[in-house]
Amino acid sequence: MLEALQALQDEALDAVRASQDASALDAVQSAFVGKKGKLSGILRTVGSLPPEQRGPVGKAANLARRAVEAALDERRAALLAAADANLAETEWVDATLPAPASVVTAQRTGGTVHPVSALVRDMEDIFLAMGFETLDGPWVEDDYHNFGALNIPADHPARDMQDTYWLSDGNLLRTHTSPVQIRAMKRGAPPIRGVCLGRVFRHEELDATHENTFHQVEGIYVDRGVNVGNMLYVLRTLLREILDDDVEVRLRPSYFPFVEPGFEMDVTFRGAWMELLGCGMVHPYVLEQGGIDPNEFSGFAFGLGIDRLVMLRHGVEDVRHFMDGDLRFLRQFPGGLEG
Ligand code: DAH
Repeated sequence: MLEALQALQDEALDAVRASQDASALDAVQSAFVGKKGKLSGILRTVGSLPPEQRGPVGKAANLARRAVEAALDERRAALLAAADANLAETEWVDATLPAPASVVTAQRTGGTVHPVSALVRDMEDIFLAMGFETLDGPWVEDDYHNFGALNIPADHPARDMQDTYWLSDGNLLRTHTSPVQIRAMKRGAPPIRGVCLGRVFRHEELDATHENTFHQVEGIYVDRGVNVGNMLYVLRTLLREILDDDVEVRLRPSYFPFVEPGFEMDVTFRGAWMELLGCGMVHPYVLEQGGIDPNEFSGFAFGLGIDRLVMLRHGVEDVRHFMDGDLRFLRQFPGGLEG
């Protein structure tokens, strides 16, 4: 498998070098790293490999993908520079005309990775290496998936904690990523190992720590005999990778309608305990809503906010910077965390 990956990477890099224009590069991009590309195909199968192969193959596949993406960017920039040099020599330029498309594209390739996207990518890599697959769900949800199926009936006070944007057709903007738990379970029988990293919406009073559009990670793991120890292992591995090797964690009992028992997990941060995420064993009612027999299977779930972690990681003082698109803020993250 690793050799096949290496061969695929070599093939992609050769194709990049051989490309003479943007459309050739686009073709290489979609053949290897696009949605239906060969490398993306391998990444999708990592979760079904034997456990001891997932880590190495997941890692190698990600490295290969990044190498190919970097080569594509570099080749694109080189071709554009060459085209611009050519244009400057051969043509008289009317400075009042809009910039040629090639210049606009050049600025785009010199762009930066949004710090939230950078952390999302890092987290996806970590989960992929642990055998999870990434899941998606709609931003416009229905009441059933966002609340009802998660054991939050219409009259439940837990609804008050998530100020909801209701749409005129009775649907809503999802207030958390937890509805993806239900969608993951309905998709197929256990074992289920999925994470969803995505946007959520709440009708908040905006200030430096509250934004109406923010990001969460949701995880769900359902199989025979899954227990709290498994959950601790996965969460500790995640937090070690993104925060610190010797980060300490603790669980406190807490209440979320969709887990039983439910916990909040705290981590040590700069010498103090900090509340970070909610987690627990998936409630039998929720398993049933997902079409899974709670007498045969058990699972854990967890959810955490991404924006606050990014704020900690970079010392960002106001969460509203993430969504307001101010380039003076975004340009401070050249190449994102990977650069
Ligand atoms: N959905 C919860 C929220 O947005 C977070 C959460 C708590 C998710 C506990 C979970 C969980 O999966 O087990 O506040």
